Amino acid sequence: MDQQISSLCMPGVNVSVVSASQRAESCLYPEEKQILTAFATRKRTGEFTMGRTAARNALAQFGITRFPVLKGRRREPIWPAGYVGSITHKTKMAVAAVARERQYSSIGIDLEYTSEDIPFEMFKKICVPAEIQWAKQCETLKSVRFMMLFSAKESIYKALNLKHVSRIGFKDVQLNWIDETHAFTVDFLNGLEKRLDRLDHPLTVTCLVSGRSVFTCLAIENHDA
Ligand SMILES: CC(C)(COP(=O)(O)OP(=O)(O)OC[C@H]1O[C@@H](n2cnc3c(N)ncnc32)[C@H](O)[C@@H]1OP(=O)(O)O)[C@@H](O)C(=O)NCCC(=O)NCCS
Repeated sequence: MDQQISSLCMPGVNVSVVSASQRAESCLYPEEKQILTAFATRKRTGEFTMGRTAARNALAQFGITRFPVLKGRRREPIWPAGYVGSITHKTKMAVAAVARERQYSSIGIDLEYTSEDIPFEMFKKICVPAEIQWAKQCETLKSVRFMMLFSAKESIYKALNLKHVSRIGFKDVQLNWIDETHAFTVDFLNGLEKRLDRLDHPLTVTCLVSGRSVFTCLAIENHDA
């Protein structure tokens, strides 16, 4: 899966995957430890530590060492000046992706498990009719497709949030699956396009389904640089 995730991300995006078995070797900078509240559960502590370890490894691929990744006002990770990135984690795995800002204006990545039982009612809240129709086209793949849509929207949120728009709802985008590229193209709805700052169309969210995991990535090219 590690290799597949790395090859899914765009050129120039450095990726690190950390698994739970590597957790024992993981450690946090003192500044990062302070982000964890005294009430953090074991699960939260483990996931946060794996995520920060992945971030550290991804930064090291650019030769950046000893950089504690702190968090911003909306819980987003803070990267060194000139770099952008994203973190996602689950109990067994964390992934971080980092790139140079002159190449990408922002990145969003997300990891989900297809085995998670999410009620259909929830998908009605996050999907627009065309997406629901696509997911329901294939009965056996329905729940996987819903998870692909959900994950892609989480990646979009992480990439657009703050950097390109201050507020975005699940139904402000429509995802269109392209079989050949194994990716979603993104249509903006509800006037979102007008609210987006410094963003060129089209956006593409790449998607990997491997075993019970779904991984998505949106890296937005920087045309301003
Ligand atoms: C923030 C959010 C995307 C996190 O996703 P998640 O599936 O719960 O968790 P993940 O493991 O994938 O990601 C967690 C990491 O995301 C990062 N993150 C948190 N808030 C973020 C934000 N506002 N922007 C970018 N990254 C953020 C953090 O690094 C966090 O890990 P940490 O707390 O250990 O530092 C999710 O909680 C959320 O708010 N979703 C709303 C999405 C939405 O509204 N979409 C509509 C747009 S189409």
